[in-house]
Amino acid sequence: MFERLDRLADDPILGMMAKYRQDTSEQKVDLAAGVYQDELGNTPVLRAVKAAEQRVHDNQKTKTYEGLAGNISFNVAMQDFIFGERHPALADKRIATVQTTGGSGGLHIVADVLRRANSAPVVWVSGPTWPNHRPLIKGGGLEFKTYPYYDAERHGIDFDGMLSTLEHANAGDVVLLHGCCHNPTGADLSAKQWDALVDVLARNELVPWNDMAYQGFAQGTDEDAYGARLCAQKLPESVVVTSCSKNFGIYRDRVGAASIVAADAEKAVACATHLANVTRTVYSMPPAHGAAVVDLILRDEDLKALWLEELGDMRDRINSLRRNLTNALEARTSTNRFSFIARQTGMFSLLGLTAEQVDTLREKFHIYMVSSSRANIAGVRKSNLDYLVNAIAAVL
Ligand code: LMR
Repeated sequence: MFERLDRLADDPILGMMAKYRQDTSEQKVDLAAGVYQDELGNTPVLRAVKAAEQRVHDNQKTKTYEGLAGNISFNVAMQDFIFGERHPALADKRIATVQTTGGSGGLHIVADVLRRANSAPVVWVSGPTWPNHRPLIKGGGLEFKTYPYYDAERHGIDFDGMLSTLEHANAGDVVLLHGCCHNPTGADLSAKQWDALVDVLARNELVPWNDMAYQGFAQGTDEDAYGARLCAQKLPESVVVTSCSKNFGIYRDRVGAASIVAADAEKAVACATHLANVTRTVYSMPPAHGAAVVDLILRDEDLKALWLEELGDMRDRINSLRRNLTNALEARTSTNRFSFIARQTGMFSLLGLTAEQVDTLREKFHIYMVSSSRANIAGVRKSNLDYLVNAIAAVL
């Protein structure tokens, strides 16, 4: 039977991460996977996480199963974190949330529930989008269409193109949005653009599906949730999938949440049963450890303050790296063609290099990024900045 299976190509992101790890060069630079790195190139365990882990370990009394929805206390704490404690949709009990195995697990669970709700749902994705969106959601049997998002010439959002395309979408279509820190472009909608977008979604009865993998990495934890909160407030139905991988730095612990905002409390209960039922057929229930840690941090005043400080440090550092990289590239190339890097937010920007130039950077200079020239800005350090800038100038 298995002789029919051919070897697949490497994953475009995690395959690059694996190649980087195999590279023995001392000059190697990792701009591939969306993982935060400090000035030494490490991805440390946050102090708030270490402290919470110790307490979870000391106080754990059992390892019996959690329920299908995972850690209920975590789900409630995540609702407050994502939507804001006083959100009207929470007061109206319109939100059903389950714990998931990271953001990817949440996307998969939601895709299955969407297919149950609508036998042939169309999902509109941004052009471009995170490379794993299509395969992940296609696995759930959903049809894809693309709306224009990033204008690579101008290094900004083609907002008119986006809106005019969505004006022609059919009622009931789902629109996958990046809540903040758009992956791979780093170009985020402004509050004013979210307002205009939500009007179009409302008028055309479209259902937004916010993938929010980087809450807290653009401007702040509340500011970054503006779009998801607005959708939940102004529209009868919306979806949010969240990851705790980046903002809590617990990548390998696989913690996330999927929330469906339903038209009323009764429908939210129905959606919760479907989220749990799909989870049962995929992995029964998510692992307990990471969610217990996040729950403790979100509920303990001191741990939360420490975590927010650490998250703010990561955000500020990426923003200053953006400015440093822009300045260094502009000085080295005597052009302003890289000024967009300083304007964008989150971990990623598309540098605007060809796939061949990206290959040369990897093969000749040991610099790793995704073939679209998506670079993880957190991988830029004071110690590799000159090397990186000279290499980019050399391949231009
Ligand atoms: C990324 O986009 O690099 C991260 O979200 C890691 C991943 O799973 O692709």
